[in-house]
Amino acid sequence: MIAFLWVFIMRTSPAQAQADPVNWLPPDSRIDVQIPPDELLSIIEPLQGEALLGKLLFNSPSLLGETAVRIGLTCNSCHPNGHVNTRFFMSGLSSLPGTIDVTHKFWGSGTEDGVLNPIAIPSLRGVSKSAPYGTLTVLPTLGAFTKHVIETEFAGPPVQPYELSALIAYMSLLETKPKADKQTYVQTNLSAYFALLIEPLEREWIGGVTRITHLIREELGRRIKVSPEHRAEYEGVSQILKLIQRAAKTHPANARDALNKHLGSAD
Ligand code: HEC
Repeated sequence: MIAFLWVFIMRTSPAQAQADPVNWLPPDSRIDVQIPPDELLSIIEPLQGEALLGKLLFNSPSLLGETAVRIGLTCNSCHPNGHVNTRFFMSGLSSLPGTIDVTHKFWGSGTEDGVLNPIAIPSLRGVSKSAPYGTLTVLPTLGAFTKHVIETEFAGPPVQPYELSALIAYMSLLETKPKADKQTYVQTNLSAYFALLIEPLEREWIGGVTRITHLIREELGRRIKVSPEHRAEYEGVSQILKLIQRAAKTHPANARDALNKHLGSAD
C-alpha cells in the first residue's frame, strides 16, 4: 500500500523525487525511455478491458517488487511499447547499453549465478508467436516465462492469475510491423480506465478495486508528466478514484453510483 502510494507520489511529483537524498539507482545508470517508439498494435481501436489492464501492469513498478519500486523500473523501461530500450544501462549490471544481467543479486531474487552475464534486451513484438522463451531459462509458454520474469528474476510478489492473463492479452497485441494503413496512435479515454472497475465493484472484490485504482492513478501521474497543463483535471480524477476505492469497502452501492456517474463524463 505504501509502496503504491510512494510510486504515485514519485510519478506525480518528479521535482520532489529528484530532491530525494536517497538515490537507489547505481550512478551513471539510465533506465528511462526518451521518446517511446510506436506501439504497433494488431488492433486500430484504443486499448480497453483486459489488454488495457495488461498495459497498466506493464507500466507499473509494483509488479516487479521492491527493488523495482525503489528505482521506478517497469517492463516498459526495458521493453518500451514492446520494443527495446537501446539506451538502457545500469552500472554494474549492463555491459553495453541495451543489456542487463537478470541473474544479479541487485534484484534480491536469489538467482545470483556469480557471473556478470548481461543479456541483450529482446523486442517483444510478435512475442505471442515466438515460443519458446528465454536464454538462460527456457520456458515453453509466454505465461510461464512472464511469471518467471516477475517472481524469479525480479523477486516480485506472486503474480495473480488475472494479472498474468492481462499481461498476456496486452503482449499478444504487440505486432512486428505497422498495420497496412498508417498506424495513428489514439490515446485511450479515461472512461476506458474507469470501466476496468465495473466488474470488480459488481463482485465487491475489494482487492481488485484497490489494485486497479492504484494502477489507474499511476497512469494519471504519467499523463501529468507528459501534459502538465492537465494537472488539475487529472488530480481531480485521481481524487474521485480514491473516493470510489474507499467507498467500495463500506458502501459498495455508493461506489458503483459514483463510478457510473463518472463513466460517461471522464474523457
Ligand atoms: C531490466 C530489464 C528488463 C525488465 C524490467 C523486463 N525485462 Fe523482459 N527481458 C529482459 C531481458 C534481458 C530478456 C532476455 C532474457 C533471456 O533471454 O533469458 C527479457 C526477455 C523477456 C521475454 C522473452 C522474450 C523472448 O522472445 O524470449 C519476455 C516475454 C519478457 N522479457 C517480458 C517481460 C515482462 C512482461 C516484464 C515485466 C513484468 C519484463 N519482461 C521486464 C529484460 C527486461
